[in-house]
Amino acid sequence: MLTREEMRSLLVARGQEQEELFAESRRARQRRYGATIVLRGVIELTNVCRVNCDYCPMRRDNVRGNDTYFLTADQIVETAELIRASGINVVLLQGGETPSVLPILEDAIPRIRRLYDDQVEVLLNVGNLKRAQYERLHAIGATSYILKHETSDPDLHLRIRHETLESRLRHLRDLRAVGFKIGTGLISSLPGQSLDSIVDDIELADEIGTDMCSVSPFIPAPNTPMSLEPIGDNELALNVIALLRLRMPHLLIPSVSALERVGGGGQSRGLDAGANVMTVNFSGANDQKRYLIYGKDRFVVTLDHVRRLVETSGLELRGSVFIKQETMSRESAR
Ligand code: 5AD
Ligand code: SF4
Repeated sequence: MLTREEMRSLLVARGQEQEELFAESRRARQRRYGATIVLRGVIELTNVCRVNCDYCPMRRDNVRGNDTYFLTADQIVETAELIRASGINVVLLQGGETPSVLPILEDAIPRIRRLYDDQVEVLLNVGNLKRAQYERLHAIGATSYILKHETSDPDLHLRIRHETLESRLRHLRDLRAVGFKIGTGLISSLPGQSLDSIVDDIELADEIGTDMCSVSPFIPAPNTPMSLEPIGDNELALNVIALLRLRMPHLLIPSVSALERVGGGGQSRGLDAGANVMTVNFSGANDQKRYLIYGKDRFVVTLDHVRRLVETSGLELRGSVFIKQETMSRESAR
């Protein structure tokens, strides 16, 4: 295992050293998963949120001024039908943190499972809820849950999320205890974040025993208290992906759209660095505009974009690793 010192130095690797790091990471991915990339379809449920993260345009202080929306259960199920028709069996239901999504999910999740004859991973990313609510969501058929720790620096966490790191970690442990596959994630290049603290992020992901971990470079989003901060470094985020892969070869690590937003071609570099998940956006055009993550001109990932990237990297698409199934056939992924 790499020492902290080695990790800190690899975080800033460039050129030849970085290419060697990525090659090593790809070999670790290959040994664990072969040349396969998991495909997810995401539905953005609502842009309403009760948390007030300083980096996010959907933060609580902005909700009154935003053009807010909630998808209905019918709309969610209709979108899940599109995802199924694309040959994707991971349905990611994502939205701001608000208890109002609960009755909608109660209605939609069992219908999505029926749509797929149970051959589906229902993956949630809807923030902190009560333990009983996690239990309920698991009981009605949600498989997995993403709740990102964002930064492992407790002071920075409190300063920019106005919530404690400790409570976030408690929720992650609850989710695991309830039976979910769990996912965490971090933002890299946050103002005030040190390299040491990113090494902590990697070690924390390992300690939590997470199944999934994302890395997103910081994007200064408009209409937020952090809009004037410098944009995050793609290369740093890529190096974090590679270090996560080396330390935890089993991890599902997405190559996120924020990498594309920062510099063209970033998502294919994410695959080069050892990521193994791509997410296709299935929100309607109107909701895409209202789901303000990173601001209005975010990069919206289409199935065509993903197919091109994955094929160019010599990889192939597959379905969920959390349900029994074969590698997605080339036909059904088309
Ligand atoms: N920069 C980078 N990542 C962000 N996220 C939200 N806002 C930003 C931003 N400005 C990420 C966080 C959050 C997810 C919804 O997107 O990790 O959990
Ligand atoms: Fe809410 Fe997530 Fe935005 Fe934070 S990052 S304000 S929790 S939608």
